[in-house]
Amino acid sequence: MKNLSTTYLGIPIKNPIVIGSSGLAATIGGIKKLADAGAAAIVLKSIFEEEIVAEAEQTIGQQLGMDDNNLEFFDYYDYQVKHEALQNYVALIKEAKEAVDIPIIASINCTSYSEWVSYAKKFEAAGVDGIELNIFKLPYDESATAESIEKIYFDIVDKVKQYVQVPVGLKLGSYFTNMGSVLTRLSEQAGGLILFNRFTSLDFDIENDQVVSGKVYSNPEDFSMSLRWISILSPKAKCDLVASTGIHDYSSIIKMLMAGASSVEMVSAVYKEGPEVIRWMLGEVEKWMERRGYESINDFKGRLSQGQSSNPEVFERVQFMRYFSGYNK
Ligand SMILES: Cc1cc2nc3c(=O)[nH]c(=O)nc-3n(C[C@H](O)[C@H](O)[C@H](O)COP(=O)(O)O)c2cc1C
Repeated sequence: MKNLSTTYLGIPIKNPIVIGSSGLAATIGGIKKLADAGAAAIVLKSIFEEEIVAEAEQTIGQQLGMDDNNLEFFDYYDYQVKHEALQNYVALIKEAKEAVDIPIIASINCTSYSEWVSYAKKFEAAGVDGIELNIFKLPYDESATAESIEKIYFDIVDKVKQYVQVPVGLKLGSYFTNMGSVLTRLSEQAGGLILFNRFTSLDFDIENDQVVSGKVYSNPEDFSMSLRWISILSPKAKCDLVASTGIHDYSSIIKMLMAGASSVEMVSAVYKEGPEVIRWMLGEVEKWMERRGYESINDFKGRLSQGQSSNPEVFERVQFMRYFSGYNK
């Protein structure tokens, strides 16, 4: 048996496979199956403030009619819907904590500062081991500067950390103008950076002139953006880096650890193959470690990061230049 123990947001975990936020852990049955198959920690589905508000407005609209403006009823109902959604999430956390003995992480996506804090406090009180802040707003506003957008991320993590004691991770997209600087500075504040989230994508149905949803699941090739940035950031980051997107195979888990990640988050592969894929991948990681003579993850973590490389510029190379096509030459 190899020592697969590592960390996620600084929390000790028994192996590097964390289940990323998704419907996979929406029920206790689902959570138990993931834990039984060997998952080291589970991130619950994000609770979205925007979704709760939209649901409240829709229900209120149906009850009141378009022209009615009974604000007292509106306030009351808004409060009720929010309260119920949060209570359901709290109940799931408590049940999950009773059902399995691995860390359970809440995932939050809010629109107002006060709600980020309020949700985080409630979930900490319910017993979560850590909190993932799922922050992203598409930067479509042409009047917003890059600095003003970046400041939102720093402010949210700062505010939440003032009020909760459990580790706080940031799950981010890859749309920053100055990624190296922003992520290195965020790593000084966060307990972990989860790189990167994968968002819903847009597609067009050209026969029916309609906007439709793109593919939901990632592909095995999609890991390379995370690999590049974890390789570059791991020597400088002040917190755990967690690889997310495109982990479909044991080899991509190993690659991320070699880049310097402390753990990985998996979603699409588990949807496609079922929870048993976790056990299989862990077995394959152990076989690889045996083949390579490693006893623990620390023996090879970060071995292929930019900081360890005799050829650090290959990590920054982005153009297809013929002269540089063979990285191992
Ligand atoms: C069906 C589905 C639901 C998801 N829901 C959430 C969510 O609520 N919050 C979140 O942060 N990420 C969510 N994600 C993104 C995943 O957590 C993950 O970051 C992404 O799928 C990339 O990992 P993968 O390549 O292993 O799928 C969802 C992904 C899928 C496929």
